[in-house]
Amino acid sequence: METICNGSNVGFMLLPVVVFASLIVYFGSPLNQNTNTVGYFSSFSTSNTVYTKANELVFESSQPSPSQPHQLPTQIKRGREKIEDGLARARAAILDAARLKNYTSYKEGTYIPKGVIYRNPYAFHQSHTEMEKRFKIWVYKEGERPLVHGGPLNNIYGVEGQFLDEMEHGKSPFAASHPDEAHMFLLPISVAYIISYVYKPIVTYSRDELQRLVQDYVGVVADKYPYWNRSKGADHFLVSCHDWAPDISGANPDLYKNFIRVLCNANTSERFEPRRDVSIPEINIPNGKLGPPHKGLPPSKRSIFAFFAGGAHGYIRKVLLENWKDKDDEIQVHEYLDKKGTDYFELMGQSKFCLCPSGYEVASPRVVTAIQLGCVPVTISDNYTLPFSDVLDWSKFSVHIPSEKIPEIKTILKKISPQRYLMMQMRVIQVQRHFELNRPARPYDLLHMLLHSVWVRRLNVKVPYR
Ligand SMILES: *[C@@H]1O[C@H](CO)[C@@H](O)[C@H](O)[C@H]1NC(C)=O
Ligand SMILES: *[C@@H]1O[C@H](CO)[C@@H](O)[C@H](O)[C@H]1NC(C)=O
Ligand SMILES: *[C@@H]1O[C@H](CO)[C@@H](O)[C@H](O)[C@H]1NC(C)=O
Ligand SMILES: *[C@@H]1O[C@H](CO)[C@@H](O)[C@H](O)[C@H]1NC(C)=O
Repeated sequence: METICNGSNVGFMLLPVVVFASLIVYFGSPLNQNTNTVGYFSSFSTSNTVYTKANELVFESSQPSPSQPHQLPTQIKRGREKIEDGLARARAAILDAARLKNYTSYKEGTYIPKGVIYRNPYAFHQSHTEMEKRFKIWVYKEGERPLVHGGPLNNIYGVEGQFLDEMEHGKSPFAASHPDEAHMFLLPISVAYIISYVYKPIVTYSRDELQRLVQDYVGVVADKYPYWNRSKGADHFLVSCHDWAPDISGANPDLYKNFIRVLCNANTSERFEPRRDVSIPEINIPNGKLGPPHKGLPPSKRSIFAFFAGGAHGYIRKVLLENWKDKDDEIQVHEYLDKKGTDYFELMGQSKFCLCPSGYEVASPRVVTAIQLGCVPVTISDNYTLPFSDVLDWSKFSVHIPSEKIPEIKTILKKISPQRYLMMQMRVIQVQRHFELNRPARPYDLLHMLLHSVWVRRLNVKVPYR
């Protein structure tokens, strides 16, 4: 039995239950988009043995919690028992929904996820419902602005600030009013602000200062409260869209072994761990708006076959430009466009396929822009874990091309029949709601998807009472 953390050594154990057992055992590489990978949300619907096996694992590998010398007052203990009991009920409900293939907690007027874009729509629906019912996050109050309690609200790191702002000032129903009622603990640090305040003017690219600041914060809260030590960080997380964010754990990997990093820069070659960490979409948030103009045309009016415009950032773009720049009428690859922002969105809205190559880092804001403009995204990347891929089956509404196949882009896209294209485009429209940024957040939108990813990881661990 593979576990993320080593049970008794770290003072808690993984509950290898249901979804979560299959998360651990059956999590297929989201990069294998063309094979029929069994993601954990799909394993219920496809295989009964998975379900049985999951149950066996519960019994096989359940170990008693390590004995705890210090007893907490009964009242607090009861609070924690209540939390773990609630999580157990949520797991059971998710399993039931998946097994019975029905939407048991159907409420009038709520969105019901349906169709092949979901790995398991029943499990997802139930899990999202359970999350709305119960999930509480404590945001630590320690620290001062600007490095903590706020982040950039616009441009490509904007998701970071929007999430922090939603949790701290958005009257979010997910914000816990007391840490003892919380399932999860958020370190409200903004890596993007650390870089823009502490590293300005930039005289060094050394990550030392960043690592020191984050580690100090962990030290402060771990000293002051019992929560970090209790779970060795497994119910703690941080959200950042900055390129450098994965490096927070570089200086002291052991400290962050269980800690959940919610990142845009989800490069598995740089120790992004899809089973523990969360990949979130990078979005270029314009000033004063939450998304690009809605300019997508219906499929029949899309006159450009495939489109890309952008600089030669990073090795993938270099190869793309070398192979395709201004060479083909159908695969339109440009390095620069006339300097009018609107043209860019208009052109994407007129395209059938939008090429979304990695830049200096794996994530590209083009993926979300393409989805919002109804253009089928063609991700060109290596070692990139696509956002929300434990819920969404990207192969149904996007095309993945590894960098080595860049010369074959045209052949690959031309092989997609018009019928299949229409299906994919329709599903892109269907998936739009999950990439929509709303303030306050709404069920199934981008911020809820982010929260749901964290929620699912919380379901995967059991924090002992002590
Ligand atoms: C789902 O299944 C349960 C148990 O079989 C049943 O009681 C319930 O009516 C079903 N709900 C729907 C919406 O089909
Ligand atoms: C948590 O563990 C650290 C390191 O062992 C220790 O210094 C700290 O005092 C502990 N925190 C609490 C609240 O006991
Ligand atoms: C990263 O991608 C390259 C190219 O596809 C592959 O050879 C390599 O094994 C991948 N590394 C990891 C850690 O997945
Ligand atoms: C992903 O990480 C590997 C290893 O550090 C690096 O070589 C590669 O360039 C990264 N990918 C991108 C697109 O930056």
